[in-house]
Amino acid sequence: MLLNLRNSIDFFLRRKIHFSRKNYYEENEDKSTLIFLDEEINREKNIIEKYNLLDYKNNSTISNYCQNLYIIDLLDKYLNIENCDTLRVLDIGSKNWYYVRAEFSYFKKYCNNLFLDGVEIDAYRLYANFYNRLEVAKYYMKGLSGVNYIPDDLKNINNRYDYIIWILPFVLIGPHRYWGLPDKYFLPKKLFEHAYSLLSKHGKMVIINQGEEEFNTQKNLMSGLKYKSLLLDNMFYKYKHERYLSIIEKE
Ligand SMILES: C[S@@+](CC[C@H](N)C(=O)[O-])C[C@H]1O[C@@H](n2cnc3c(N)ncnc32)[C@H](O)[C@@H]1O
Repeated sequence: MLLNLRNSIDFFLRRKIHFSRKNYYEENEDKSTLIFLDEEINREKNIIEKYNLLDYKNNSTISNYCQNLYIIDLLDKYLNIENCDTLRVLDIGSKNWYYVRAEFSYFKKYCNNLFLDGVEIDAYRLYANFYNRLEVAKYYMKGLSGVNYIPDDLKNINNRYDYIIWILPFVLIGPHRYWGLPDKYFLPKKLFEHAYSLLSKHGKMVIINQGEEEFNTQKNLMSGLKYKSLLLDNMFYKYKHERYLSIIEKE
């Protein structure tokens, strides 16, 4: 009750108060200190060549680089995609979109025209350095054409998408509150149904959940739909909780 009240007030205030100062920026970190397993070294080489990521490797922090490798690796392994002229892709709950490079590089390889949207309801949440998620996202999106960060609620999105990526949706109230969102926005079933309705025919939704409880709750939401799921390995980035991948295909 009290937490919800505090979350509601903070959420309202951070959408109203914005700071203005120089653009957010991250210094490159030397990747020669990175310790990968043999299997990862070969895979990294393969991904860099296939998706043209050498420039990015030389202009990123180690943590950001590894997290993007993690995402592009799983998209490359598990999403069967065919070349086409135009792709419309939506990322849901993008936060500061630290993984936009992976999504962009992956989908751009398979089309001439990519339109990649990221929607985030809490875009003005501040970090300790007083930059907000939107400002940090702008840094990660720099130079990526056709990419658009939308500071809004998923339920206000009404475009059609060929692919939807949803990494760590809030399917349990605990994490939703912990991340500072008011209870009135906790609508997992409604949001999931809305996201599914945005998919074009034969479009695919990629969902990543963490921990068994979230994954089981996600499975309830997906029941009756055509999907496959698997437990992800920790290639390139070791997360605290095990992560599950689900790919839903719209029939
Ligand atoms: C657990 S975080 C995951 C963030 C990011 N995808 C990642 O992998 O780090 C869930 C994100 O979804 C956002 N979110 C929750 N409800 C939303 C809604 N209705 N519309 C858009 N974003 C939402 C939250 O603000 C939060 O940033």
